[in-house]
Amino acid sequence: MKNASSIGGVREISQHGPKADIEVQNVSKRFGSDADGLLALSNINLCVPTGAFATIIGQSGCGKTTLLRMIAGLEPPTYGVVKVGGQVVQGTSWERGMVFQEPRLFPWFTVARNVRLGMPDRGHNQEAVTGLLRLVGLEDFGTAFPRELSGGMAQRVALARALAGSPRVLLLDEPLGALDAVTRMRMQQELLKIWQDRQLTIVAVTHDLDEAILLSTQIVVLSERPGRIKKVIPVDLPYPRNRLTGEFNVFRQELMGMLL
Ligand SMILES: Nc1ncnc2c1ncn2[C@@H]1O[C@H](COP(=O)(O)OP(=O)(O)OP(=O)(O)O)[C@@H](O)[C@H]1O
Ligand SMILES: [Mg+2]
Repeated sequence: MKNASSIGGVREISQHGPKADIEVQNVSKRFGSDADGLLALSNINLCVPTGAFATIIGQSGCGKTTLLRMIAGLEPPTYGVVKVGGQVVQGTSWERGMVFQEPRLFPWFTVARNVRLGMPDRGHNQEAVTGLLRLVGLEDFGTAFPRELSGGMAQRVALARALAGSPRVLLLDEPLGALDAVTRMRMQQELLKIWQDRQLTIVAVTHDLDEAILLSTQIVVLSERPGRIKKVIPVDLPYPRNRLTGEFNVFRQELMGMLL
């Protein structure tokens, strides 16, 4: 892994054995029976160091969500083991926040109440809720209901709810997928800021190659189903990254070559 000290202002990740925050060891996942089940992931070995921003890319159905769900503790591996902070993952934890592919808000609760549900104490700290809503640009929508939000706004509430538990590890399943191009670019910058300010380890799924290069310290490319790791590409460009540069294009070409 690249020494991240060159990555403008981002935490130091030593070249000599960064502590692995997330370790996926020999993990396979089969849904259904051995005989006629579906093998979603096959023999995944992955190490995401503390403070890294990993993105996972790969075709629809290759097992990206399944991999995130196993790191979250929502799904057990069929074979192998997932560790976070050296501990075997068994069930969910406040340490690991997740934003799902769809916002999954409670329709009968206000936006603020939905965010409060992400807090271990169910959010008696009103200031913290307001701060989170401000962070995702929704400070004026605390009393609104999910039906009154656009898809992108709902997704931002889901991000605020995931951050509400003060996680150390943030798992994002296409969190910016429902956003328009301008909001998406703004949220990409916000995500980088949140990652740096809160010293998070992030694993994010995206279908957008530019987004993967823009955000991550490492890009994990999965093969078609059953998902296997094709390659882990360290991205050693300094932040903030500029998608118009030649070096950015080198990564873009490598990824396109692997996926097309
Ligand atoms: N609970 C489940 N039961 C049975 N099969 C499942 C289950 N969850 C996922 N699968 C199957 O596992 C495979 C991987 O699914 P997964 O949702 O992880 O893909 P993905 O890479 O996230 O796809 P997309 O990019 O479309 O979101 C798919 O073939 C899917 O049908
Ligand atoms: Mg998915």
